[in-house]
Amino acid sequence: MHQQFEAQGRSFDLRQAFAAQPQRFADFSQSAPHVFADLSKNLIDTATQQLLLELARECRVEQHRDAMFAGEKINHTEQRAVLHTLLRTPDTAAAAAQAKERQLGAELRDVHATLNAMLAYAQQVRADQAITDVVNIGIGGSDLGPQMAVLALDSFATTGKRLHFVANVDGHELAAVLQRLRPESTLFLIASKTFTTIETMTNARSAKQWFEANGGTDIARHFAALTTNVAAANAFGIATTFGFWDWVGGRYSMWSAIGLPIAIAIGADGFRDFLAGAHAMDEHFRSTALEQNLPVRLALLDLWYRNFHGFSSRSIAPYHSALRRLPAYLQQLEMESNGKRVDGTGQALPYGTSPVLWGEPGTNGQHAYFQMLHQGTDVVPLEFVAVKKARHALPGHHELLLANVLAQAQALMVGKADAGGHRHFPGNRPSTFLLLEDLTPASLGALIALQEHRVFVSGALWGINSFDQWGVELGKVLAVDIAPRLQSGDCTGLDASTAGLLQRLRSA
Ligand code: F6P
Repeated sequence: MHQQFEAQGRSFDLRQAFAAQPQRFADFSQSAPHVFADLSKNLIDTATQQLLLELARECRVEQHRDAMFAGEKINHTEQRAVLHTLLRTPDTAAAAAQAKERQLGAELRDVHATLNAMLAYAQQVRADQAITDVVNIGIGGSDLGPQMAVLALDSFATTGKRLHFVANVDGHELAAVLQRLRPESTLFLIASKTFTTIETMTNARSAKQWFEANGGTDIARHFAALTTNVAAANAFGIATTFGFWDWVGGRYSMWSAIGLPIAIAIGADGFRDFLAGAHAMDEHFRSTALEQNLPVRLALLDLWYRNFHGFSSRSIAPYHSALRRLPAYLQQLEMESNGKRVDGTGQALPYGTSPVLWGEPGTNGQHAYFQMLHQGTDVVPLEFVAVKKARHALPGHHELLLANVLAQAQALMVGKADAGGHRHFPGNRPSTFLLLEDLTPASLGALIALQEHRVFVSGALWGINSFDQWGVELGKVLAVDIAPRLQSGDCTGLDASTAGLLQRLRSA
């Protein structure tokens, strides 16, 4: 691979590649369920792609994928299976037979029973005229997915209810929402896989206090919990609960009961379409040859850029304002999954893993940081997401939006050589272009499943466990130690900086 990089990779020029290969667009673009992908503006040729595919085989990506679908405990540091794909498996005789073969028949029946109950509840809430506001209290995977999807599917939201998302322990967030609500017309959803996360528990307690202090009486009607820890939810005083299972990772959980806000927004049929779109992508990933397997091709590019070109970040630019929380969602997906420095056995890795993922919707980003993407010293591969169809009637806007996304991808590649100094654009900057026909529950489901599987494959290539997140633990423990010190002023054992800041925060 390193030889290939020195011979073909380092000096690869996209403009020359297009000139030399009339078929390049066809060779490096493909369809997958609900998503068309143009990979041709990436720094890759056929020989490199072949070698990368061989690497995928050597890294046993297919076996690892099959182990995930089979329900093996591939999250070995937590001794858990990884079965979010089961949440999208349809309720058909064929799917049930396949699940039975994998000894996952009982799990699948449980999935469908919970889904049916959750969707029936969503329909009941939608029909409940007295409820005008739904507040989801959760953080990380219990917030980012539902929030991203509810915004993305705004044109499918038919309930007329206002959905709010409160994640941060910063009371400004909850206080700002509460001041616009009345207990009798509000439903609180406490979303927490573990039902122990301090931010969520603090917000949930404050919400309950506010509810009772403002004359709310019927907790059973106005609070529901989405959690694997039903006992803790009951102990909190919540009777209406929708469960899920330890084999659903937090950042892979919006397909489970954690998706309730999505179901309330778009309805049961819409939620089933969302699952169906994701399932179509699961089938593509599970059964398509690696050469035409889109999550695999994207992950191989990620590896090529990170470990050979040395690019340490990737930017995502959704050209659709409803996808404005997609970058934040993908940040957790990629960086919490693959931001690891050790392999499966705990040994330090000699190469880089997760890139920094970041982005904003286009065209906004063009007037902010695209300057750096075009003329900065670092090369940042950019991933565009565009949607062919608009769901508004304002003339001219969508054409202009699409013209801009095409122009940016073009400008990054072609550059501008006939000007010097400040006006020179080096070009040859890589980008991937993902195109949806329409932004619907099904296409969003497919787009997200595509990203999940891509992260899975890059994790497998790097040899890491993409499904634990030990890196978030230390800060949680230290916060528990520091919180009482803010009250007491006790700085015993603290480093001088933490002690100095703590004293400043306490002083009048
Ligand atoms: O702190 C990280 C994390 O564990 C995420 O992985 C998870 O999505 C989030 O916290 C919320 O966890 P929970 O749903 O258990 O409240």
